[in-house]
Amino acid sequence: MLEGLRRLEYRGYDSAGVAVLADGSIQFRKKAGKVAALDEEIAKAPLPASTLGIGHTRWATHGAPTDANAHPHVVDNGNLAVVHNGIIENFAELKKELAEKGYNFVSETDTEVAATLLADVLATETPGDLTKAMQLTSQRLEGAFTLLAIQSQFPDRIVAARLNSPLVIGLGEGENFLSSDVSGFIDYTKDAVEMGNAQIVTITPDSYEITDFFGNPAEGKEFKVEWDAASAEKGGFASFMDKEIHDQPQAVGDTLLGRFDDKGKLTLDEVNIDEATLRSIDKIIVIACGTAAYAGHVARYAIEHWCRIPTEVELAHEFRYRDPIVTDRTLVVALSQSGETMDTLMAVRHAREQGAKVIAICNTRGSSIPREADANLYTHAGPEIAVASTKAFLAQITASYLLGLYLAQLRGNMFADEIQAVVNELKAMPEKIQQVIDGEEQVKALGTEMKDSKSVLFLGRHVGFPVALEGALKLKEIAYLHAEGFAAGELKHGPIALIEEGQPVFVIVPSPRGRDSLHAKVVSNIQEIRARGAITIVIAEEGDTAVEQFANHVIRIPQAPTLLQPLLATVPLQIFACAVATAKGYDVDQPRNLAKSVTVE
Ligand code: AGP
Repeated sequence: MLEGLRRLEYRGYDSAGVAVLADGSIQFRKKAGKVAALDEEIAKAPLPASTLGIGHTRWATHGAPTDANAHPHVVDNGNLAVVHNGIIENFAELKKELAEKGYNFVSETDTEVAATLLADVLATETPGDLTKAMQLTSQRLEGAFTLLAIQSQFPDRIVAARLNSPLVIGLGEGENFLSSDVSGFIDYTKDAVEMGNAQIVTITPDSYEITDFFGNPAEGKEFKVEWDAASAEKGGFASFMDKEIHDQPQAVGDTLLGRFDDKGKLTLDEVNIDEATLRSIDKIIVIACGTAAYAGHVARYAIEHWCRIPTEVELAHEFRYRDPIVTDRTLVVALSQSGETMDTLMAVRHAREQGAKVIAICNTRGSSIPREADANLYTHAGPEIAVASTKAFLAQITASYLLGLYLAQLRGNMFADEIQAVVNELKAMPEKIQQVIDGEEQVKALGTEMKDSKSVLFLGRHVGFPVALEGALKLKEIAYLHAEGFAAGELKHGPIALIEEGQPVFVIVPSPRGRDSLHAKVVSNIQEIRARGAITIVIAEEGDTAVEQFANHVIRIPQAPTLLQPLLATVPLQIFACAVATAKGYDVDQPRNLAKSVTVE
C-alpha cells in the first residue's frame, strides 16, 4: 500500500495514512505531510502483518492538512475505516442528523461524516452486510466521492463506491486491488477493470462484484494496462500539463461543488467575513502574479458588472510600491494556485497592515497565503504539477465568479433568478470545456506546423484581452517563443506595425450574441491584420460565420455567455503551447529557468 501511495503522491500529498485489518481488529497510522512522513511513523510504530488494508494520500478540500484530518477516518469504536476522494456536498446536514443521533466527530472533514453514516447504516439497517450498507449510504451522499471501507467483521473484503470520482480495480493472482488510477497497483498487475459511475464494488482476494447504488448487478470492463509506471502517473498523457489540460472539466466542476444550500442560494462558508463588512466594501483590489493575475483580470469584468464595485487588478510585486489607496472598506482578493508566491504573500501582508480585508482564492490548503488571509475560497482543481498553470487558471476564474455572485447576492445587486441563471451557465461549463478538448487534434496540428515561428501574437477584447495575455504567457513559458498579447483595440496605436507576411496571430472573438459592437470591431481587426499578411488563427463560437472570410484557421468553441467565454477560449491556447513545446522536444512540465512556486521576491 505504501508503494501504491507513493505512486499516487502526485495526485495529492499534504497528508497520508493506512489502515490494516489483522486478527479481527483494525490498526491505522496517519500523518500530515508526504508519504515519507507516514513511512517514518510506521517505522516508529510498526503495523501488524496483514493481507487487507486501505491507504490514502490527501489533497485537502475540507479541513486543513493535519493528522486528525488525514485519512483513513476510523469510526464505530475502531471497527470501521474509510478513505475518501472528492467532495460531499451535503455533509453539513448529514453531520447535523448524525450528531442528533448522538455521534461525535473529531475532525472537520466531510469524510468522517460519510464514515459515520456508513457505520450507522451498517449497525441499524444492514447488520452483517457491508456491501448493502455502502449501497444505502451512497444513496444519501451528494457531490463527488470515491469511498473505500474495511470493517473488522469482514476480514476478507473491501467495499467501495464511486460517484463522479475515479476508481479502478486491479486483478492479481490471489489478490485484488482498488485505486484512484492504475498507477496505484501497476507494479503488481496490469489486469484492470473499469467501473461505471454511481457504482459499488466489493473485492475479496479472488473475486470482485459490482452493483449500482441499489444493489442491481453491473458489469465492469476488463482491460490490460498498456502504460509503464511513469506514464501511468500522468494518466497515460505525455506530460502532466497535457493531463492537467484534460483535468479541466473536473477542476471547474469540483470548484463549483458544495457552494450552494438546499435552496440553491450561494453559501461560501469559508468566506468568514461578516456580511455587514462585505456590504460596506467600496473597492476591490485583486493581487496576484502571472497566470493568476490574468485570472484576476478576467474576473474583474464580471465582478464590476455584477457587483458594481470598482475593481482593480494589480501585480502583487507592484502593488506594495505604488502606495495604493487601501482602507478598511477595501477588499483585497489574493489569487494563488500554490498559496506560497512570496510577491503575493508580501502584498497580502501590506494590504492587511493598511486595514483591508483579504480573501485568498488558493488551490493549496494549509499554504501561507490562505493562512494569513482573513478568509478563504479554495479552488478544487487538485494538485497542479506542471509549472505552466492550466486547470488552476480556469478554477481561479470559476472561484472568482462565485465570489462575485456571492457579493452581488449579499448586496442585492442581482436578483436570485439572475444569479441562478449565471450559476446554471457555470454548471454547464465542464461539458463545454470537454467539447473544446475533444477538438484538440486540430490545434495540436497547428502547433506542430507553427513550431518554428519566430513570434506569435494574441489579440482579444474585453474578457478576451486577459485570455490573449495568458495565451502569450503559455507560449513564452514552455516553448521559449517570443509571444505577446494585446488588446485588439490597441493595434492601431502601435502593435500593428509588427504585422508582416506570415506573422501568426491568434484572435479571440467575442460572441456575436453579446455586445455586437465588440464582435464587429474584432472582426474588422482580423481584416486589418489579414490585409497586412498575418496568418490569422481565430477562436470563435459555433455559428459565428462572420469571421470565416478573414481567417486562415478557425477554432470553434461552444456558445457561452460573454463573461464565461474565457473558460472555453483559453483551452485551445493551452493546447497550442503544449503542442509547440512538445514538437520542439522541450520538457513541457519543467521548463527552463522556472519553478512551480516562486517563493522568493
Ligand atoms: C503560470 O503558468 C506560471 N507558472 C506563473 O505565472 C504562475 O501563475 C505565477 O507564478 C503565480 O503562481 P501562484 O498562482 O502559485 O501564485
